[in-house]
Amino acid sequence: MTMDLFAADDASSLPDETLAPGAMVLRGFALPYQDALWADLQRVTAEAPMRHMITPGGFTMSVAMTNCGLLGWLSDETGYRYDRVDPDSGKAWPAMPASFASLATRAAEKAGFPGFTPDACLVNRYTPGARLSLHQDRNERDKRAPIVSVSLGLPAVFLFGGTKRTDKTIRVPLQHADVAVWGGPSRLNYHGVLALKEATPHHLIGGVRVNLTFRKAA
Ligand code: SIN
Ligand code: FE2
Repeated sequence: MTMDLFAADDASSLPDETLAPGAMVLRGFALPYQDALWADLQRVTAEAPMRHMITPGGFTMSVAMTNCGLLGWLSDETGYRYDRVDPDSGKAWPAMPASFASLATRAAEKAGFPGFTPDACLVNRYTPGARLSLHQDRNERDKRAPIVSVSLGLPAVFLFGGTKRTDKTIRVPLQHADVAVWGGPSRLNYHGVLALKEATPHHLIGGVRVNLTFRKAA
């Protein structure tokens, strides 16, 4: 597939990049999927609307979230966990759309992790000013599976560090359709997202950044 099939402003200007052993950014990898992802996401959020969760410290998160797949990531005053049930509806999370799962499996494979079958997809929506502080993804039982993280819409700066909170972090610009994958020796690396900057709305996604994070949580 060649890039000229896509709008010029969608073609990532940056090369694929290795961030650390087991961690890489696949530039524009989600472009062939963007229309299917966006349509399927509307079905997910109709069933399980975006909401601002509360941190264990009692703060409201600036990033709005929802989930699809067997397990959904949750935060509240009692801590972080995965649950099969959306506490807002009392029902199971929406099924993971096939477009989501196949993109995640193919991105993981390209990054060196064949056979990735995610059972959880966390959807994050950043409006300008929203940020995600440095953290590890460590509520998943199976740490052999990588994390696959798909960026849609406005550009953001991703922070990627080491296995200790105090390790030096690098700043990685992520654009629409870029996919970051980290696993193996990088699986527990700290990461976060700087406050989103105001920018011209994306023609498909609008004036926000949406991130899909795929995990094998069970
Ligand atoms: C996350 O760490 O859950 C999301 C990272 C991102 O939005 O790029
Ligand atoms: Fe994370």
